[in-house]
Amino acid sequence: MLGHLFHVKQQDRVGWIGLGEMGYNMADNLQRYLASQSLTMTVWNRTPGNALKMQHHGAHIARSIEDLVAQSNIIFTSLADDAAVEEVYEILFDLAGQVEHSIIFVETSTIYPTLATKLKERLAVTPQHTYLQCPVFGRPSLAKAAKLVWVTSGDEKAIKKLCLYFTTMSKTIIHLKTTDVSRASAFKLVGNFFVVGTMELLAEGLTLAEKADVDQESVLKFIEAFFPVPSWTEYSKKMTQAPSSKDGVCTVDIGLKDVKHMRQLAQETGASLPTADVAYNHLLTVKEQGKGDHDWSSIVNSLKTPAPSRRQSEENYTAVCASEDSETNSKSMTDIYPPAYDSK
Ligand SMILES: NC(=O)c1ccc[n+]([C@@H]2O[C@H](COP(=O)([O-])OP(=O)(O)OC[C@H]3O[C@@H](n4cnc5c(N)ncnc54)[C@H](OP(=O)(O)O)[C@@H]3O)[C@@H](O)[C@H]2O)c1
Repeated sequence: MLGHLFHVKQQDRVGWIGLGEMGYNMADNLQRYLASQSLTMTVWNRTPGNALKMQHHGAHIARSIEDLVAQSNIIFTSLADDAAVEEVYEILFDLAGQVEHSIIFVETSTIYPTLATKLKERLAVTPQHTYLQCPVFGRPSLAKAAKLVWVTSGDEKAIKKLCLYFTTMSKTIIHLKTTDVSRASAFKLVGNFFVVGTMELLAEGLTLAEKADVDQESVLKFIEAFFPVPSWTEYSKKMTQAPSSKDGVCTVDIGLKDVKHMRQLAQETGASLPTADVAYNHLLTVKEQGKGDHDWSSIVNSLKTPAPSRRQSEENYTAVCASEDSETNSKSMTDIYPPAYDSK
């Protein structure tokens, strides 16, 4: 079925799968660059909305993943979670086994490290293809401004070949210089731990300010002057404003997936991440409030309306503080909060 394309001359034919908050903005920047070189990109998304927007910017819409594979020798993917990545790559591997042209797959989603390894190993049965794991840092607004931080892992030659494309979407590229693709996913989880830890800290501090009747505007001014870091200033502003729209977000659902992954990584490696445990509880509370599709900075709402699980934690904490001489005083953080990783 794909035979008519077997003999197409090998030149860069870029395909993109997954046009969500991140994928759309990244693909759009790459498409602009390709258009400047009189090239175009082929895109596919599960639902057509964003693919149609890309068409207005000159991209070609594939009728199916099969159509996209037939037309591409470089395929980027940006998908919600591990399940989506596994589902799409199952189809991609099947098709990759049927084509003679070689394809470089560039997987940019935040997935668990062992899944990256599994995908690379699955692809190894068709050795003309290459699998790169290249997760990205930055919210959709940074993706739109082409100011992401890219992390690369996988075959060095393929990374060099695609480096120019990566630069059209990012301000910094961190080359891990390893063919072990699980490293980039682990790196991404470590980076996201710093992000979610920052959010937890800001949410707690801003709630304290609110409850102690400390002027919010002045607190924001203080943060800007004392911690002039985009993540601090942006997230503190987001937490003190009503959510404007559901566009340009990193959702609570995606955040929960990331925090669940970092907790699992901590458990498997013997590290301890009490901050991630606390943040996980708080994100879960926001999800229970029916806000799984809100920006994950709404973690601040969990502190306003305690959920039963959190109240339980607070009761335990009070018990710890109240009985300084008692045995409870030796309770560890894991007694207070759930174990570092559970299968929820
Ligand atoms: N948002 C951020 O700030 C941010 C920052 C850095 C990294 N990331 C990571 O980047 C990835 C994408 O995030 P996002 O914010 O762009 O998510 P998103 O807006 O929810 O987009 C998810 C994409 O995955 C597609 N998808 C979901 N399930 C699928 C399935 N079963 N089969 C095929 N396609 C499927 C969606 O298609 P539909 O459009 O049809 O639903 C959409 O294109 C995630 O791994 C996330 O962790 C996000």
